[in-house]
Amino acid sequence: MQRILVTGGAGFIGSNFVHHMLARYSYDIVVYDALTYAGRLENLAAAEGNPKYAFLKGDICDIDAVRSAVKTHKIDTIINFAAETHVDRSIMQPDAVIKANINGTWALLEVARELGLPRFHQISTDEVYGQIPEPLRSSEGDPFEPRSPYSASKAGAEHIVYAYHTTYGMYTTISRGSNNIGPFHYPEKAVPLFTTNALDNIPIPIYGDGMQMRDYQYVTDHCEGIDVVLHKGVAGEAYNVGTSVETRNIDMAHKILDLLGKPHSLIEYVKDRAGHDRRYALNTDKLRALGWTSRHTFDQALEKTVQWYIDNPSWWRPIKNGEYRDYYYKQYAERQSK
Ligand code: NAD
Ligand code: TYD
Repeated sequence: MQRILVTGGAGFIGSNFVHHMLARYSYDIVVYDALTYAGRLENLAAAEGNPKYAFLKGDICDIDAVRSAVKTHKIDTIINFAAETHVDRSIMQPDAVIKANINGTWALLEVARELGLPRFHQISTDEVYGQIPEPLRSSEGDPFEPRSPYSASKAGAEHIVYAYHTTYGMYTTISRGSNNIGPFHYPEKAVPLFTTNALDNIPIPIYGDGMQMRDYQYVTDHCEGIDVVLHKGVAGEAYNVGTSVETRNIDMAHKILDLLGKPHSLIEYVKDRAGHDRRYALNTDKLRALGWTSRHTFDQALEKTVQWYIDNPSWWRPIKNGEYRDYYYKQYAERQSK
């Protein structure tokens, strides 16, 4: 592993991962990203000028462009972060997630097979397991029961990755991360949406009863987990990455308001998400056995995240003034008439 193609590297987790890898190793990192609404070159500004880093604009569904990128840069490893990632958008427009997450993953795998790449890593999610009743936790061998277009597309992508391992003998690995929080998180997702709304004294929309639970992990902990899987993961295997501590959405919202010194009256209960998964929860023993550990508690992760949004309005304000406004109106106007 010397020259790595990081697809989706201009997004939230991908950009954090690029910074992590450039700081820790001397690999050549080539980011390949279509720069959709969620992909932002400013997330990679700190890497500009580093001779070990290059950026290519391209769609993972465009197999010719992927092949050309892999050949030109003599890539030996693909790490696939590229995806349409928002559950609510996947409910409004399922075609986009199916194309990017399933067709796109296939195109990457096909190029990797054709050119004999020694390594392929797929970034997946705890959402492939579906909702998990308390007190159960999902382990890697558990069946998939995805319930949203997003999670179904990620599960589909995983099946294709596994098929390329068993059928063609490719050295593939998969990591299934829980919800990430931290810098460069597009403010359509709950934590940055709640934080930036509260900073502007705009109501925080809580879906349904707000009792749904997520395992929120700090993004750099997830990046370290992916790093461990890349270096120690066994071919054909998948690894859960998360804190194994779950928090209710309503509790998370109260904590954000307290951190910002804002009134709890900003909380507004709105119509629930269709098919809303009640709880995700991971057993992470398999990754911990490889030496990984989660460094941040939920409170530490949330505090750092909220502080980043306080310190970086120049990053999120232009986003909230652009395409986002139309999306927000479509997504929330109808919900608020609950
Ligand atoms: P993001 O939405 O912030 O970024 C996605 C990136 O992919 C963007 O830069 C976008 O431009 C790019 N992209 C989208 N479609 C593309 C295409 N067809 N071709 C090339 N690039 C394309 O997403 P994120 O939160 O950073 O998630 C990254 C990966 O991690 C995804 O695979 C996601 O499913 C997975 N994941 C996310 C979370 C989370 O909490 N955010 C948790 C677990 C797993
Ligand atoms: P999100 O950040 O979209 O991640 P995911 O659905 O992939 O877990 O949402 C996290 C939780 O917050 C989820 O239970 C849905 C809920 N949520 C709200 O209550 N209000 C919102 O405006 C959003 C975006 C999410």
